[in-house]
Amino acid sequence: MDMLSAATQVRENAHAPYSRFKVGAAIRAASGRIYVGCNVENVAYPEGTCAEAGAIAAMIAAGDRQLNEVLVIADSPAPVPPCGGCRQKLVEFGAGDTPVTMCTLDGATRVMTLAELLPGRFDASHMAKA
Ligand code: THU
Repeated sequence: MDMLSAATQVRENAHAPYSRFKVGAAIRAASGRIYVGCNVENVAYPEGTCAEAGAIAAMIAAGDRQLNEVLVIADSPAPVPPCGGCRQKLVEFGAGDTPVTMCTLDGATRVMTLAELLPGRFDASHMAKA
């Protein structure tokens, strides 16, 4: 199954009774396998998780460690970008030139790299004194 179909399908399973904003995400790992995730909200609002976080968790649980491509879809007026926290989660397992395709249900798309989405990011080099 392709990334768009996978993310569109998993989006239907989102648990989003509070925001009523369902999100689906698909990640293609270095192995070629596709992992999916949807947002899972909670009545204690901050406890909810984003679609991207779910897809990353599925990838790591399955043993893949590197993501080569990301796609996110929502019923949004403009292609939906990953939130700040998810950008940091994605760069943990991706590269600066990893493409993130943002989609609406109406077919609008926008592609940005992880470096464009999270310039000046915190990484392991900041923890090592030269
Ligand atoms: N959300 C995602 O799952 N991914 C994004 O990229 C943006 C936001 C979710 C979190 C929350 O369940 C709902 O969308 C509204 O913020």
